[in-house]
Amino acid sequence: MNVLVLGSGGREHAVSWKISQSSQIDKLFIAPGNAGTNQVGTNVDIDVDDFEAIRDFCIEQKIDTVFIGPEGPLVNGIVDFFQADKAVKHIAMIGPNKEAAQLEGSKDFAKKFMKKHNIPTAKYLTVTNENIEEGISFLESLKAPYVLKADGLASGKGVLILKSLKEAQTELKSMLSGKFGDASAKVVIEEFLKGVELSVFVITDGVSYKILPEAKDYKRIGEGDTGLNTGGMGAVSPVPFAAGGFIDKVENQIIIPTIKGLKTDGIDYRGFIFFGLINVKNDPYVIEYNCRLGDPETEVVIPRLKSDLLELFEGVSSQTLSERDVEFDDRVATAVMMVSGGYPEKYDKEKSISGLNNVFDSLVFHAGTKQDGPAILTDGGRVLCVTSFGKNQFRSLEKTYENVAKITFDKAYYRKDIGFDLEEIQ
Ligand code: AMP
Ligand code: GLY
Repeated sequence: MNVLVLGSGGREHAVSWKISQSSQIDKLFIAPGNAGTNQVGTNVDIDVDDFEAIRDFCIEQKIDTVFIGPEGPLVNGIVDFFQADKAVKHIAMIGPNKEAAQLEGSKDFAKKFMKKHNIPTAKYLTVTNENIEEGISFLESLKAPYVLKADGLASGKGVLILKSLKEAQTELKSMLSGKFGDASAKVVIEEFLKGVELSVFVITDGVSYKILPEAKDYKRIGEGDTGLNTGGMGAVSPVPFAAGGFIDKVENQIIIPTIKGLKTDGIDYRGFIFFGLINVKNDPYVIEYNCRLGDPETEVVIPRLKSDLLELFEGVSSQTLSERDVEFDDRVATAVMMVSGGYPEKYDKEKSISGLNNVFDSLVFHAGTKQDGPAILTDGGRVLCVTSFGKNQFRSLEKTYENVAKITFDKAYYRKDIGFDLEEIQ
């Protein structure tokens, strides 16, 4: 099988690493990839949003399967683009079509969907310039803090959590007047839910589904979950509090109604669904859906997958997923992200990375790197993700941190407290 992976982060490196071990792989390409993906396949210099160039490449290289990593091309309809073209419509696309990707592409769509199918989520109201007054009064009916969400994709910055009512009302107006461009022409106001978050992933062929191991990511830049939001600073899988009853509730109250709801609504969803959940007094609520795998959750979930990923992809495209076995490693996987100093604000690039060859018994997934002759340079805010296994979380973290310490680049930063909150939950 010839496979093309779209994307350039740690998620795409982890998926490509896994695909490269499949008994079915012939050629593996990654567009545009990074210095790490080039070690498990061949990088191709094509932008993930250049659908025509991607199609031409797929024809030229006789690609059988395309895995789409980031949400952008999915929400913009790469799957529909391929399906509408005779020359490439036979290619298996691992990711939902444009309509199905609305679960991530429009918060209003996702909320309506959840309401219709009785899926537990925060109370909400969708506001545009037409019903702004209603929005102001809805805010008054809620308790602080206040949650405002731009309806469309806003590069992970579209959610505001505000302490005072006044601030929330001012921000609502500013969002509706274009703070996030078209993405905030509609704003979803939500009740604030208090609890611990976790991410659950499902792969579906539109008929059946398989649940992958859950994970918890650490989004804030600072220790103790403080400071600015980032793309993710580390992850742990499994999550102790998810054991037993909680995941059953997630399956019965959230996953099954979502898969059924998609079918009922005639939405053909094939690919991964990311359930961003919050545990409120031992009951799961959906904070968000994403139409893709999470990053850095993928860097702990995919290494735990024992089964052949391409067989699962085949199950998705032929709608025979129910006949496939999915097996997982019982050990705990932990990941720590090494980032460029200054991230998520201004940071430098092109710093030389050393020590990668000294890593022992951990995996290193590249997130933002590039090759420069024999050297590997930093090329983004999130640079490298170090993942290890252990028989428990503490052993696993010990190994991860031991190896993180062997890797150096100028102004490297990482959180030293990944997993800090899980002990008490256990
Ligand atoms: P999202 O982009 O929807 O994942 O939101 C970003 C982050 O905002 C989430 O990971 C949560 O930490 C927080 N958040 C979003 N919605 C809510 C809510 N209704 N209650 C509490 N926190 C929320
Ligand atoms: N780790 C959260 C995300 O991928 O959106």
